[in-house]
Order: sequence, then structure tokens, then C-alpha cells
Amino acid sequence: MDEISEMDRRARAILGANDRGGYTVPTDGLYPYQWNWDSAFAAWGFGRFDPARAWAELETLFSGQWENGMVPHILFHKADPGYFPGPEVWGCKGPLPSSGISQPPVAASFARRIHEADPALGREAMARLWPRFMAWHRWFMTWRTDEAGAVCITHPWESGRDNAPDWDGAMARIDPAGVGEYQRRDTAHVDPHMRPTKYDYDRYIWLVQLGRRLGWDEAAMARENPFRVADPTMTFTLLRACRDMAALGGELGRDTGEIEEWITRLEAGAASLWNEALGSYDSRDVHAGTWSGAVSNASFLCWYAGLENARMLERYDRIAAAVKYAVPSIDPEHPLFDRKRYWRGPVWAIMNALIGIGLHDMGHRRRAEALRRQTGELIATRGFAEYFDPLDGSPAGGGAFTWTAAVWLAWASDSAEQY
Ligand code: DGY
Repeated sequence: MDEISEMDRRARAILGANDRGGYTVPTDGLYPYQWNWDSAFAAWGFGRFDPARAWAELETLFSGQWENGMVPHILFHKADPGYFPGPEVWGCKGPLPSSGISQPPVAASFARRIHEADPALGREAMARLWPRFMAWHRWFMTWRTDEAGAVCITHPWESGRDNAPDWDGAMARIDPAGVGEYQRRDTAHVDPHMRPTKYDYDRYIWLVQLGRRLGWDEAAMARENPFRVADPTMTFTLLRACRDMAALGGELGRDTGEIEEWITRLEAGAASLWNEALGSYDSRDVHAGTWSGAVSNASFLCWYAGLENARMLERYDRIAAAVKYAVPSIDPEHPLFDRKRYWRGPVWAIMNALIGIGLHDMGHRRRAEALRRQTGELIATRGFAEYFDPLDGSPAGGGAFTWTAAVWLAWASDSAEQY
């Protein structure tokens, strides 16, 4: 067996300990099920030492795909009373008990990387997964793009950036009266100061109840859901995923015509997320036509989506210089910056990896490498935390986190694939 570093060994051990047989939980306790984008990152990490297990992760994720192509953000494989809201609250009727919303579609981009590492195995897995990926991406294009072609979310959880200020305007228009009594479980696992507030949670649950009442019917939700926000995370990751699918499809001899059309539409959608007054990509409330007004780490996924932008480089340099550890989830100069509260300040290794890959791909190698090294130092000195305080690097949220371990193995460690 190859010699591996102590950190690599610990990272692999976290993936192993969070493995529940064909899928990986984000962390024991706080998140006891299979989460969509967490799983995609897990597959990327497994791909570094066990490609067959990496493909199994993605295949298990797609075993929960709905008939309409949607791939849920949570698959409730085995009941766990330690998490709320569970399957009985969502009331969904997919092939497996699941939530009724999706999450950022990063899986195809990692599938391409896992395929490159072992093309024979990849060809076999992709023969099964290709139509699955196509159906999922088609679902986004059909149900989640606005007139401009930007990808919208229908619940803050769909973006993966649950309590980012991006959603504040749309959340303020929801009156959660009648949401009823419920018991949060997250704050029993993690310090409440590192989690979303009750104000946010009431609205999260209200939106779940609305979806359930509408039978998770996309047409009905498009009409009745007051929450619809065009999101840079979704738009940039889907654009990148489509580019990766087009490249992979070329190698696998697939027809990629439909994907090319999606790319053109998503490029127009990405352009529609440019907030000129802020001088940044931003989230746009579709119903109100208003901007969020915050530069977020999702704004910096533009390079990952293959889009060059000199003003974003200026924003990046200013924000990276303002903190000890880049990239904070929002601009530290923003009045809502909150260094430990989830997506209102902390650094997330997964976002850093995507931003770093994007910077590298667009030729900004010095910035990419500085970010990679800083992220590696953060994980090596502070552990495999869910997220970190950007001002002093303190670990926050859950520990022994799958996606932080995966980012270490696949990008931040010196033995990683890196770019
Ligand atoms: C949670 O429960 O906090 C999750 O982020 C929902 O996906």
C-alpha cells in the first residue's frame, strides 16, 4: 500500500466512519441522512482512493430521483429521530422517502473527474447515470429557470446556503403564522449561535408545509410559492455541470446538442445576475425584482462557471485581504456579516474548492494556489469542521465532516488532484 500522510489517513477515516453503506452522511448526529451536494463532494473524495465506492455514492443518490427528474436534497434512507424535519413533515412520494426540493447540481462535475481517474470504470457507471443526469438537469431548465435563464430556488435550503442574506427580502414577505409548534433538532447538536435563527426556521418550515399542501407539484408551486430567488450558486454550478457534461458526453460519444442549448441559456441567466450598483454577481428576488446587495462566496463561483470578470477579481482581492482566512460567505464589510453564523460569515472549504478550481481554470493561478494553501492550512490546523470563522479560523458547526475531509483529499492536500 502507498504511504499516506496522517492527515490523509484521518480524512479517509472520516469518510469511512460516515459511510452508511452506499451513501455517506455529512456528519454523525446533526445530519443523519444522505444530502445531495454533500454526497457529490463525498464521491469526489472517495474517487481519490476508491473509485468504485465513489460511483456507488452517486448511484445511491440517483436511486432517489423523482419521475420528473428532480434529485432530492435529502434522502431519508433510515428513520432517525435526531433530525427535523423528517420524511413525515415533507410528505413526498418519490421512490425513497425524501425532501421535495433539490440542491446545487455539482455531481456531474465530480462525475467527470472520477471518470478521468479510471475511464473504464467510469464508462460503465456513466452508461447508467447519463440519462439520470440529463433528466435532473432538464428538470432545472424546465422548472427552475426564470425568463432570463438564471436558476431559481424555491426554498433557502435548495441553494445549500441556508441562511445567506440573499434570501432575506423574500423571507420577509412570508408570514409564518399557522406554522404550528415544532421542535428543532439542529440546535441540540450545535451551538445555536452557529445556526440559523428561529425567525428563519419558522419560514423554512412554512415553505415545506406549502410544498406539501401543493403535493410538490412544480406548476402549482411556480404559481403559488412567494419565495423564488435567482441564485448564483445554482446558476454557476449548473452552467459548470453542463460544460462538464458536454465534455464528458463528447468522450462517451453522446449527443450533446440539448446540453449546448442549456449552456447558451444559462450564460444569459448568469449575465442577468450582475448587479451593476454592487459591482458584483448577486441574487435577484424574482417576484419583487430586487437585489440582495451582498457579495457572497457564491458570487465568486463565476470563474468556476467559465465566466471572466475583472471587477469580481477586484472584489475578491479586497475581501481576501480583509480576513485571515478567505473566502468568507459574505463580505465582512456588509452590516449582516456574522463570523460564526453558518452562511452569514463563515468560510466553507467546499466553496473554496470550487472558487479555487474556477480561479485556476481561468488562469488566475496565483490566487488559486494561495486559496488552496490557506484552506489546507485551515483544515490541517483546525480539523475537519463543517465551517470556520474567517477572522481567526476557529472551527464551527459540526465536526468530522464528510465534505471537508473530501475537499482535503481531492484538492487541499499536497497529495490531492488539486485542479
Ligand atoms: C438543515 O437541516 O440545516 C439542512 O441544511 C437542510 O438541508
